[in-house]
Amino acid sequence: MAFATVWNYCVPLTIFTVACLVRTARCQAVQAENVTVLEGGTAQISCRLQNYDGSIVVIQNPRRQTLFFNGTRALKDDRFQMVLFTPRLVRITLTNVSVTDEGGYFCQLYTDATHHQVATLSVSVPPETPTVEVKQEAMEGGEVELTCMSPRSKPAATLRWIRNGREIPGVVSQQDNAKTFSVSSTIRIPVERKDNGAALSCEAFHPALGGQKRIRHYRLDVYFAPTVRIVPPSGILREGDSLSLTCSVTGNPLPRNIQWSKINDTLPERAEISGPTFQISRLSQSHNGTYLCQAQNNYGRAADHYTLLVYDNVSVTTTVPPTPTTQPITSHPATPTLLTPSFAPDPKDPGAVVETHSAAPYAVIGGVLALLVFTVICVLIVTIWCSVRQKGSYRTREPILAWY
Ligand SMILES: *[C@@H]1O[C@H](CO)[C@@H](O)[C@H](O)[C@H]1NC(C)=O
Ligand SMILES: *[C@@H]1O[C@H](CO)[C@@H](O)[C@H](O)[C@H]1NC(C)=O
Ligand SMILES: *[C@@H]1O[C@H](CO)[C@@H](O)[C@H](O)[C@H]1NC(C)=O
Ligand SMILES: *[C@@H]1O[C@H](CO)[C@@H](O)[C@H](O)[C@H]1NC(C)=O
Ligand SMILES: *[C@@H]1O[C@H](CO)[C@@H](O)[C@H](O)[C@H]1NC(C)=O
Ligand SMILES: *[C@@H]1O[C@H](CO)[C@@H](O)[C@H](O)[C@H]1NC(C)=O
Repeated sequence: MAFATVWNYCVPLTIFTVACLVRTARCQAVQAENVTVLEGGTAQISCRLQNYDGSIVVIQNPRRQTLFFNGTRALKDDRFQMVLFTPRLVRITLTNVSVTDEGGYFCQLYTDATHHQVATLSVSVPPETPTVEVKQEAMEGGEVELTCMSPRSKPAATLRWIRNGREIPGVVSQQDNAKTFSVSSTIRIPVERKDNGAALSCEAFHPALGGQKRIRHYRLDVYFAPTVRIVPPSGILREGDSLSLTCSVTGNPLPRNIQWSKINDTLPERAEISGPTFQISRLSQSHNGTYLCQAQNNYGRAADHYTLLVYDNVSVTTTVPPTPTTQPITSHPATPTLLTPSFAPDPKDPGAVVETHSAAPYAVIGGVLALLVFTVICVLIVTIWCSVRQKGSYRTREPILAWY
């Protein structure tokens, strides 16, 4: 199995044929095949024999160390195995091939130094999935610099930046590191807030991957100052209602803390704050005021405000009955701006109405009392008048006696 796959990949680049220089009928020769194998794979190095007459066959590595001497292992490296030795074919395998194994393997008939051939072993190193490095943080309105890197391949991999199916040309640099290559491709792209989260990819192509490619996906991270918006409640709020505000925050990084405050005042005791939501149950008019939601990140801060007006519910119940007659409420069901002017002067009226209601019994009592006082005064005047007339007659008679 393993052999089969490796063999499929191994490309016999050439078959060297040694011309038979000897004029005689009996002429021996070797043929060797160039081989390309993936790093870590198994290479088969084959020597074809022609007219083999039993001479010693020697196989040497690129450093010309003898691996096999007519079938006998000479070099102590277990990765080499002789798998076949027939009069037509000598074949050895090399497992776990590394780039250092590259080079020409010599196949030689010991008797005849001229009859040798070289099988060149090439090792191919396909790239891993490339990595992406951010060289420069991207703030909105700025430029992001991204580098796609493939640290090791042989031959050098080709890198391509893709966005929305289109290639973004990059600045490619290639470095040779002892038989393998490190390749990088750098792009610089201007970014706006809308580009946050945009998808890019870096693709690595390589002959050893066939038509396949290794893809690294990357999402743009564009930093920007927060925006804040309070979502206000609909309709008007009256005493006893509950208030619920939501602060909708954006920003990158997303602000972690949302601060609620009341301008020129402390927050009401009953305020319940849970992150972006702010709630007050059972509103009273003391909650009137301007509320602020603020958020910040490293790139800035933002705030939004909401002005709370709590309407009197007494005025609502007392003034609702007369309004239908004067105003077409059906056409403007709950528009605060339209209702406000008609409601505003009313808080004073119900008080006046209440006073007149409670004054009615007092008026009756007062009238009765006034009548009583009046009659008492009349009676007094009459009696005094009468007594004065009587006294007048007394005085004429003996006035001195009356005073002592
Ligand atoms: C076999 O490999 C050697 C070394 O790379 C090269 O010189 C030679 O041209 C190759 N043979 C062919 C036919 O490509
Ligand atoms: C070399 O090995 C081959 C195959 O085993 C054998 O036929 C041949 O006689 C050997 N030659 C010598 C000189 O030992
Ligand atoms: C293959 O060779 C590498 C070094 O070239 C080594 O690190 C690795 O352990 C070897 N693998 C096997 C299965 O022998
Ligand atoms: C308004 O109504 C609520 C309940 O409907 C009540 O608790 C509150 O006391 C009322 N406020 C006034 C000022 O009448
Ligand atoms: C807060 O107080 C300052 C100074 O007293 C005043 O100028 C400002 O208008 C007040 N703001 C609000 C929203 O009441
Ligand atoms: C609260 O606002 C309402 C509506 O404007 C107003 O009628 C009321 O007098 C205010 N109350 C206080 C205590 O400011």
